Amino acid sequence: MLNKQEAIWVVIPAAGVGKRMQADRPKQYLSLLDKCVIEQTIACFSAHPKISGIIIALSPDDPYWKDLNINCDKPLYTVDGGNERCDSVLNALVYLKSELALHDDSWVMVHDAARPCLSQKDLNKLITALENSAVGGILASPVRDTMKRSSESNQHIIHHTENRDNLWHALTPQMFRFALLFDALQQALDNNISITDDASAIEYLGLPAELIEGDASNIKITKPSDLALAEFFLSRAKESV
Ligand code: C5P
Repeated sequence: MLNKQEAIWVVIPAAGVGKRMQADRPKQYLSLLDKCVIEQTIACFSAHPKISGIIIALSPDDPYWKDLNINCDKPLYTVDGGNERCDSVLNALVYLKSELALHDDSWVMVHDAARPCLSQKDLNKLITALENSAVGGILASPVRDTMKRSSESNQHIIHHTENRDNLWHALTPQMFRFALLFDALQQALDNNISITDDASAIEYLGLPAELIEGDASNIKITKPSDLALAEFFLSRAKESV
């Protein structure tokens, strides 16, 4: 049995619409091998011995979730999502505090519903790397391509080349101490700071979040072609088990 500080709760924001997929339903409900995307994502965590439970933030008028037959070995709760991803995450944290009385030093791991290819290897790497951290950190992959910034007046014209030294792609899961993340998100939202991931809120408080190198196969499904790529990564992972 884990003590309170070692508990790791997973928050899966899944209240987005995913317009860029141009599909008839939000991307988390599109088919991916034998399940839909969000079922594959939940499966990344449901059998892991260190995960205590899962909170999913859903759009209040989501008609799809209730028809899924989720097979999960952990406690699983749903909350209403908000206007932005950070609002959805905050709603889940409010639930963890008010309904489950989560300890301040417990871990919360936030993972996009649309990232179904997270490997057990990367999940273990993140948990192990942060074992002694007082703050937390994120999976990330170093930028490999040359990065261009377009001109403000025409986004198809190059303005200049960015220096890619020390540039990383922020992936998820992003894992932080519960009270820190709660406070950081609340303060950032109160001050109208743009928050595109959980680490942005931690950075806003001036706290050091760690970068843990993860595999680039942990893609976020965004465009239609990403589904075929996710299928390839998942099939490859299943074959190697
Ligand atoms: O749109 P994007 O892919 O950046 O969203 C990242 C994750 O945040 C997705 O899993 C999406 O469902 C979730 N999200 C949310 N609430 C919103 C917007 C996005 O839970 N209002």
